Amino acid sequence: MSIKNLEQLMTIPQWSTKKTPVICVNVIQETHNVKTFQFRANSPQLFTFKAGQFIGIQLEINGERHNRSYTIASSPSRPHLLELTIKKEQGGAVSPWLHENILVGSELEVRGPAGRFNNLDIESDKVLLISAGSGITPMMSMARFWSDVEPSKDVRFLNWVRSVEDIIFRRELSLLDFKTPAFELDVICTQPGLSENWLGRRGRINTTVLKDMVDDINDREIFCCGPEGFMEQVKICLEALDFDISHYHDESFDPGGKKKAKLAEVKGGSAQNSPQTNPNEPIRNIYQVKLIKSGQQFEIRSDEILLDKLEAQGVLIDTGCRAGNCGACRVHKISGRTETQNETGLLREDRQRGDILTCTTHVKSDIELEL
Ligand code: FES
Repeated sequence: MSIKNLEQLMTIPQWSTKKTPVICVNVIQETHNVKTFQFRANSPQLFTFKAGQFIGIQLEINGERHNRSYTIASSPSRPHLLELTIKKEQGGAVSPWLHENILVGSELEVRGPAGRFNNLDIESDKVLLISAGSGITPMMSMARFWSDVEPSKDVRFLNWVRSVEDIIFRRELSLLDFKTPAFELDVICTQPGLSENWLGRRGRINTTVLKDMVDDINDREIFCCGPEGFMEQVKICLEALDFDISHYHDESFDPGGKKKAKLAEVKGGSAQNSPQTNPNEPIRNIYQVKLIKSGQQFEIRSDEILLDKLEAQGVLIDTGCRAGNCGACRVHKISGRTETQNETGLLREDRQRGDILTCTTHVKSDIELEL
């Protein structure tokens, strides 16, 4: 669709959160291994979401199905296009395919948006955005948003990269720094390279550097995104600085939620959703799942993931991380017993209400869902 007049522009409907077919309208080579893909919806829609959220895509590559989540890098203040900035991971199954196959005119289907890591659900006055590598994408969405709608927002932006040639959005970051009065930027190279005339900061994150760069760090709401090891290091630094960790928020798409599941084990095993096992109940491993609204009913084995089974039955569920972190696949359980490996994506109120995350849930009795 091409916009022909202003009236047409003002009457575009808002994004619904179901499957949305989109078409690629531009591809930007950000660095040697990072591209930004700009999409518009096939039928005109304004992309409404919260800065920091992500979408899910499902692809079939060589006959194999892949689900991936990508943070939206664009800002909801510029809702006509949806931008995904994606690093080509060496040996990856999906990102190299996207880099090679998504061209102007290519079509995809996206699901979402989803995610509690965003700048509206988490209130803030002064913020510190910390990222490493391609973890910059949610930070960029937030920074663009604040620059557009609240340029006086006090935003401190720190981005760690390996070398100068790995700086994503380099020119735009400089522009944000130049035009947004309360935006302050530092890009830190861990290995600038001998041939690089890098006048900025160098080195890895540590407590002294962090305190030196952000002397009012304890007054700020922190958003952090990057590899697990980097985020762990950030948390260690914050602990050393007596930072109140309730003001720290991070984002990870750890596939399978392995790390968090492991943490749950260490803290006393996987989370159980009441009611507890009845000792008089015969041990079974095939149970009935009853969907109350649709009337659908099917069987599930106790070693199957509930989300996989729902999808196999043709039930449309929003998904994102598929690892228990984002909350996108939450459904209300009316009755029955389930177990989960990771439910970081559930708020305490959700849990108390009886909601479960289908992507990390195993069924342990006959259950009824509000679907
Ligand atoms: S898809 Fe993210 S919590 Fe289930």
